[in-house]
Amino acid sequence: MATTNRVCKLVKRPPPGLVQRDVWAIEDLPLREPGPGEFRVKIGYVSIDPAMRGWINDSKSYVPPVGLGEVMRSYSVGTIDASNHPDYKVGDAVQGLFGVQQNAISNGQNVGRVDLSKAPMQRWVGGLGMPGWTAYFGLLEVGQPKSGETVVVSAASGAVGSIVGQIAKLKGCRVVGIAGGAEKCRFLTNELGFDAAVDYKAGNLGADLKAACPKGIDVYFENVGGEILDAVLLQMNTFGRIPVCGLISAYNATRMPEGPKNLRCVLTQRLTMRGIIVFDWANRIPEAIRDLATWHAEGKLKIREDVRKGGIDAYPETLNLLFSGENNGKLVLAV
Ligand SMILES: NC(=O)c1ccc[n+]([C@@H]2O[C@H](COP(=O)([O-])OP(=O)(O)OC[C@H]3O[C@@H](n4cnc5c(N)ncnc54)[C@H](OP(=O)(O)O)[C@@H]3O)[C@@H](O)[C@H]2O)c1
Repeated sequence: MATTNRVCKLVKRPPPGLVQRDVWAIEDLPLREPGPGEFRVKIGYVSIDPAMRGWINDSKSYVPPVGLGEVMRSYSVGTIDASNHPDYKVGDAVQGLFGVQQNAISNGQNVGRVDLSKAPMQRWVGGLGMPGWTAYFGLLEVGQPKSGETVVVSAASGAVGSIVGQIAKLKGCRVVGIAGGAEKCRFLTNELGFDAAVDYKAGNLGADLKAACPKGIDVYFENVGGEILDAVLLQMNTFGRIPVCGLISAYNATRMPEGPKNLRCVLTQRLTMRGIIVFDWANRIPEAIRDLATWHAEGKLKIREDVRKGGIDAYPETLNLLFSGENNGKLVLAV
């Protein structure tokens, strides 16, 4: 039986750019027993999310920054191995904001139960977890896709984008994914059933997008920002919707990114752009899980994870894989 808990702490604010290893400290802390009303989770997988880059900056955001000296914030999933909580027993599988560590103590707040008979553990921080809920509410509530419309999604082969595109297909839309490289584009059309895919690294984004969207674009699910947003704006149809989910191209920017050059399209085409944060639908998460898990069980929703090994020590390098596009599917770290 282990007596220590290996954790990854934030010890320094990173300067702009890719996060270097010296902002992190990997430490062994004494393994704590749960107190009254608490339980302890033995973590199986830590979710690696682009948002982590923002959580460690000391700037105004939708959540306070991770404090210096604190265990890094993360969604994680695992199994309860000790409990003094009336509603949670040893052996229950749960997910929540448990942090980048091997074991977490919780009082049950904001914790979700996980049904391992429906999907393997890592999927509950991926397509059936936070990225899946984001895709579900962001597309359906803000994108409001209608049958026959054209939906474009960027970072399309990733955790959120792959689910967005498949839900849009289920709603009867023409779906076009934007992704980096021929292999990811092939995955979108051959495996996920997208109608077309555009490789933004091929250097022909505007023309390729036009060819893929002959009737223009009604919904653009924004994950990236920058030049991709500018190219899409030029092809948006009147009264189009743009849920702004993420702007990953700017997360490691070393100088202020330029604003959208084609903002005038918002005016001329009367577009709606709305930022979305998954927490906005916190009280409706069971609805998303119900539909996502049903589609998955019926074979209508394919979900893939990119599981990395190396445990807590590998967290710093694993995080940076998201920003070079080296992940193929939802990036998770096996603990
Ligand atoms: N608002 C919310 O509540 C919420 C929740 C979850 C996620 N998000 C956002 O959703 C987006 C996708 O997150 P995810 O978890 O699904 O990650 P992901 O798509 O699985 O992985 C990130 C992908 O972003 C692409 N990328 C990285 N740097 C890029 C750049 N400079 N230009 C263009 N593409 C780049 C890469 O794909 P390619 O190889 O195709 O370039 C990479 O594989 C992120 O912006 C994230 O912040 C928002």
